[in-house]
Amino acid sequence: MVRAYTDEPVAADVVERILAAANRAPSAGFSQGYALLTLQGSEQLTPFWDLVFRDAGPTFDTVTLAPLVVVPLSCKDIYLDRYARADKGWTDRSEAHWPVPYWDIDTGFTALLMLLAAVDEGLGALFFGITPDKIAEFRQLYGVPEEYVPIGAVVVGHPDPAADKGGSAKVIKRRGLDELVHRGSW
Ligand SMILES: Cc1cc2nc3c(=O)[nH]c(=O)nc-3n(C[C@H](O)[C@H](O)[C@H](O)COP(=O)(O)O)c2cc1C
Repeated sequence: MVRAYTDEPVAADVVERILAAANRAPSAGFSQGYALLTLQGSEQLTPFWDLVFRDAGPTFDTVTLAPLVVVPLSCKDIYLDRYARADKGWTDRSEAHWPVPYWDIDTGFTALLMLLAAVDEGLGALFFGITPDKIAEFRQLYGVPEEYVPIGAVVVGHPDPAADKGGSAKVIKRRGLDELVHRGSW
């Protein structure tokens, strides 16, 4: 996760490749119950930064130079509709069928693919959450329908390592495989 960017633009063909990578996400029943909102240029980005970092203090000042934000949006209804079809048969549209909310998980896959695609393009990227209190205003700003939930935001740009103050990984170390993995039993 890169938390400091230069204002160098990201080329249009690079943006398209990052978006195309997101479109390769796997999804339950191939529901594809997600959408991506792209924000570029100050007219689109300034209201976004003003909203999401309104209460954050100066911590994210180095993020807001980034030229591209992609907001992945999750849509539960598309999954419930898809699984009500004959080949799945959950005509009651009950959420009790679902062990975890795959609409959010699959939307997260699109985010991860964009992070990886950005790195492949020699760029930096950051995922951060949008707090629940800001979601109504976010929808209003960009005309997003009520049934779509922003799961967070993916920031993409050219890294500025000298300005990057880091994040949680400075205070919490990555666990080893011995802690992560339970081999054969818990
Ligand atoms: C769901 C989610 C929310 C996150 N929210 C933030 C955030 O609000 N601010 C931030 O600086 N980093 C955020 N991160 C990034 C994590 O802090 C980061 O992935 C972790 O510290 C490991 O660092 P690395 O990804 O650079 O290896 C978030 C990551 C995820 C997956």
